[in-house]
Amino acid sequence: MARHVVLLLSGPNLNLLGTREPEIYGTDTLLDHVRAARRAATELDWDLEHRQSNHEGDLVDAVHSGIGRVGAIVVNPGALTHYGWSLHDALAAFDGPVVELHLSEPRERESWRRLSVVEPLASARVAGEGGAGYPRAVALAIEAAAATAETPDPGDEAADPS
Ligand code: DQA
Repeated sequence: MARHVVLLLSGPNLNLLGTREPEIYGTDTLLDHVRAARRAATELDWDLEHRQSNHEGDLVDAVHSGIGRVGAIVVNPGALTHYGWSLHDALAAFDGPVVELHLSEPRERESWRRLSVVEPLASARVAGEGGAGYPRAVALAIEAAAATAETPDPGDEAADPS
């Protein structure tokens, strides 16, 4: 069982990091962030898979591919954060913790960025920390997955022998 895998998802335009609005998103590339995220996972003995797409359906497919297979998802949905309801629904069907991640703090930007469709599903939210948010989000996701694994299922008779 390969549940010790965290799936990192990157939404539209994040492939342009490094040159895209560097005054907001910094000059590190997406690959730099993925490497930092993977190092954080490796330190906790987990693997990290990464998928970037500019297409919502690809990200929905990636979430589906993680159901029953990966232990946690970290997602920076890019602008899909604010209107990607099919991504929301896919994440709602995922059977593990979801951590929402942003380089910037969308709440402090234009008003249309204040809604996050992912937030209601997320066990944690990391925003406004720039690249440092990537390893932190991965650590939070793994921590949440480990906590879920340790919590006895109330319906499990072994947890309640009475
Ligand atoms: C972002 C914030 C979003 O509002 C924006 O559309 C992005 C990047 C971030 O990482 O700060 O593409 O998710």
